[in-house]
Amino acid sequence: MNTTDTPILSIRGLAKRFGGVAAVSGIDLDVAARETVAIIGPNGAGKTTLYNMISGRMTPSEGELVFEGRSITGLAPHRISRAGISRSFQINNIFPEMSVRENVEVAVSARRGTARRWWNIASRARGVQDEAAALVERLSIAHLAERRAATISYGDKRLLELAMVLATRPRLVLLDEPTAGMTPDETQRVTALIRRLADSGEFTFLITEHDMAVVFGLADRILVMHRGERLVLGTPEEVRVHPEVRRAYLGDTDEADEADETT
Ligand SMILES: Nc1ncnc2c1ncn2[C@@H]1O[C@H](COP(=O)(O)OP(=O)(O)O)[C@@H](O)[C@H]1O
Ligand SMILES: [Mg+2]
Repeated sequence: MNTTDTPILSIRGLAKRFGGVAAVSGIDLDVAARETVAIIGPNGAGKTTLYNMISGRMTPSEGELVFEGRSITGLAPHRISRAGISRSFQINNIFPEMSVRENVEVAVSARRGTARRWWNIASRARGVQDEAAALVERLSIAHLAERRAATISYGDKRLLELAMVLATRPRLVLLDEPTAGMTPDETQRVTALIRRLADSGEFTFLITEHDMAVVFGLADRILVMHRGERLVLGTPEEVRVHPEVRRAYLGDTDEADEADETT
């Protein structure tokens, strides 16, 4: 991260309590534009709750969220999405009876919809088609473009969903366990794709993920959460060797060994 950059997302003292349970407490995090930050931690660490607050599904009990210089604390999900933050993966966004291409066209049209001009319908339609075709190509699902979405594999559905998310032109993309439920081959494919998207410099990514090889392969920095709090924030190398992380999370498990093997 270039520390002279203003962060694209600034999280200050963020907390969420459910009755007596502090699901998230006192989280501080600055995310630089074009950075990929992974959020890891054992079950119940507060990762999903943190995502829910960033995407507007939950209102923070305390603290502030600033995106591109503007407070988004407590805004409704559609307003946060319009501000430029998208969350994936939610496969139920896909229309199963439509083709892959049509699904992406719908997503592109939805974004462009506000600029509707009757005299310009034909060129608009062409613009939508071109943009959707470029996205389908970019997500490596062009060979599936005419297939009914219901009939493609689980991994390809996730890529379709990512194409639909990118159609909204987000600057910050929240990826929720992007490789969950995937075969090792699909995991590799999706990881390489996310890497390419991250390297394009068009997006900033937050990623939660259980697969430590994926985390250490993608992240510029890693936030380790434990019982709702920030245990460590650092580069993959700093996190890997951090004694508290090893004790609290990686332990002496196979996951720690797998992470070690990624470099
Ligand atoms: N809607 C909710 N109501 C009550 N407790 C919740 C709710 N959501 C999460 N929690 C609690 O908050 C803590 C953090 O959960 P979560 O954010 O799902 O962690 P993670 O995603 O890291 O597994 C857990 O103790 C969980 O039981
Ligand atoms: Mg979770």
